[in-house]
Amino acid sequence: METQIITINKSDPPAAVLDKLSWAGSIIKRGGLVAFPTETVYGLGGDALNPDAAQKIYAAKGRPSDNPLIVHIAQISSLDKLVSSIPDKAKKLAQAFWPGSLTMIMNKSDIVPLQTTGGLGTVAVRMPSHPVALEFIKQAGGYVAAPSANLSGKPSPTTAKYVIQDMNGRIDMIIAADDSEGVIGLESTIVDMTADIPAILRPGYITQAMISREIGETDIDVTIFDADSDKAPKAPGMKYRHYAPKGELALVEGDPEKVAAYINRQTQLHKERGEKTGVIATDTLVTKYNADVIKNAGSRDEPLTAANRLYTFLREFDDENVEFIYSEAFKNDGLEQAIMNRLLKAAGHKIIKV
Ligand code: TXA
Ligand code: MG
Repeated sequence: METQIITINKSDPPAAVLDKLSWAGSIIKRGGLVAFPTETVYGLGGDALNPDAAQKIYAAKGRPSDNPLIVHIAQISSLDKLVSSIPDKAKKLAQAFWPGSLTMIMNKSDIVPLQTTGGLGTVAVRMPSHPVALEFIKQAGGYVAAPSANLSGKPSPTTAKYVIQDMNGRIDMIIAADDSEGVIGLESTIVDMTADIPAILRPGYITQAMISREIGETDIDVTIFDADSDKAPKAPGMKYRHYAPKGELALVEGDPEKVAAYINRQTQLHKERGEKTGVIATDTLVTKYNADVIKNAGSRDEPLTAANRLYTFLREFDDENVEFIYSEAFKNDGLEQAIMNRLLKAAGHKIIKV
C-alpha cells in the first residue's frame, strides 16, 4: 500500500490546513487508516463505528485484537452517543480536563462495535487538545478509534519520523505535524469510571491528585507498579511488554552520587567487553557519566521535559545500536509516576537499588 504523507505547519494558511484535513477525514469515512498527531503521542486512526476499520488497525500495528482501542472525539457532546450513560463524576472530569490527555472508560452504547472495544462492554473515550487532531476528528465524522501509531511492542511515536518508520506502506496516510505547543510525550491517563471509586489504570500527565481534587477519592491499579502482582491489569494493553528498546535497560534508584557511581562502574565493565552503553540522566548528574551515549532528561523540577523526550531516547538508543542502557529512577508521584511507569515497563521491571 502506498502511504500519503502530508505535513502541517503552524504557519500554514487555515484554508490549506482545512483542505488537507478534509482529505484525511474522507479516508477515514471510506474505512481507511490515517496516523495523526495528538498532544500525547501520534495516533493510528480509523472510523470507531466501523468494525472493519478496527480490524485493519490491529493488522497494521501487529497488535492482538483483544486489546481495546480509545475512541477520540472532537467535542464533549459526542460522548452521549458512545456510552449508555454518563456518570456524574465523568461529567466533572470532562469539564475539568477535556480537551486534554485524559481517557475515561464507561459502559458502551450499542453503536460502538465490539471490534473497537476488543470484545468488552466498556469503551475508552478521549477528547485530545491538539488542534490538528481536533479538526481531523471533526472532518472524519467525529469518532476516531486510535491506538498509538507504533508497531506493537515499540515505544509510542512522538514525532512523525518514527510514525513513518513504523507505518509507511501499512496505512493510507500519515499527517506529520511536529511543531505544536503543549506536547506531553506520554500517553493519556486512563481512568475507569465504571467502578464506584474511579480507578486509574494508566498514569499520565493528569495525575491522581488532579483527578481527586475534582471528584474525591480515586484508586490506582496495583498492577501498574508491581511486577510480581498476580492480578491481571484492568487495561488489557498494560499486560504487554512495551516500549522496550533493543538494548537491555535497567533503572538505578538511590542517593544521586551513588547512582552515578554505580552506573559508571557498570558502563566501565561493559566498555571493557567492547559493549556500547547509554545513560538517561537528569541535568544535575548528566556531566558525571562516562557512557558512550548520554541523554539529558532535563531537570527533576520540570519532569515534563523528561516526559517529552523519553520515547525519543528509547528509539535513538536503537538507532545508535546501544546494547546496555541505564536510567536514573524517578519518583512514584505526580508526572514522575507516569515516567517511572513507562521506564519500568521498558526495563521489564529491572530496578537496581543502590
Ligand atoms: O494518549 C493516548 O491515549 C494515545 C493517543 C493516540 O490518544 N493512545 C493510546 O492508545 O495510548 P493505546 O491503544 O496505545 O493504549 C490504550 C490503552 C490500552 O492499554 C488498552 O488496553 C486500554 O487503553 N483500554 C482501551 N479501552 C479499554 C477498556 N474499555 N477497558 C480497559 N482498558 C481499555
Ligand atoms: Mg500504545
